[in-house]
Amino acid sequence: MEIARPAASPGSAAASGDDRKRRAAVAALDGIVSGMKLGLGTGSTADQFVRALAEKVKEGLDIVGVPTSERTADLARSLGIRLATLEEEPALDVTVDGADELDSQLRLVKGGGGALLREKIVATASKRMIVIADDSKVVDMIGAFPLPIEVAPFGLGATERAIAALAARLGLAGPMKVRQTGADPYRTDGGHYIIDASFGRIPDPEALAAGLDGIAGVMGHGLFLGIATEAVIARQNDVIRLKPTGLQR
Ligand code: A5P
Repeated sequence: MEIARPAASPGSAAASGDDRKRRAAVAALDGIVSGMKLGLGTGSTADQFVRALAEKVKEGLDIVGVPTSERTADLARSLGIRLATLEEEPALDVTVDGADELDSQLRLVKGGGGALLREKIVATASKRMIVIADDSKVVDMIGAFPLPIEVAPFGLGATERAIAALAARLGLAGPMKVRQTGADPYRTDGGHYIIDASFGRIPDPEALAAGLDGIAGVMGHGLFLGIATEAVIARQNDVIRLKPTGLQR
């Protein structure tokens, strides 16, 4: 399940957003060469990268991909991309993935598609992480997109209380909802639940990430800080590349 964005209709601004995603994905192929081990992200933009990559594989590009979700694994396999697990290939060259939001320091919110934990494990096992996105994802301050927090089903109430207490300490407020699929909680590929926290603005993502990392029931969260090494952003008429300032990776 993905967090709702405005629906796309043919010819609408949202439909042209799909073209931007595709252009960002195609631009990210620059520098991908045979022999590389690639992390394959999850989401509609990452799907575009997998499709573009598959075309190159058909032309002879020899890579191996490590998928961040069952969904991406199914797509990549169906398109003839050779896959491996992180157990088989624990050190990757580059991960290419989308984002729900990113700021000028390339701090990301991810997890709208529910794959945040595996996405973070794969991205941090990679020397580089390239974020691909259309320009609607670039924000001055992250937090407008509800922050996905992946939690263990066991002790859900206690974990929710701990997250709420942390948010209050940091001056953050807003509804926190367990993501649903129909009448049931949504389950990640790892069998966890997701709490979507609508804080609106997150002025100090580092403090929030550190606090969440310290809560036992939190399996992972969608704040990707100091992980992305480059962003490829498609705008209406061009594609730009951003690098974070002061990244230590
Ligand atoms: C998947 O869990 C997410 O992190 C996605 O990468 C993110 O939601 C971006 O998705 P879209 O490319 O579909 O917007």
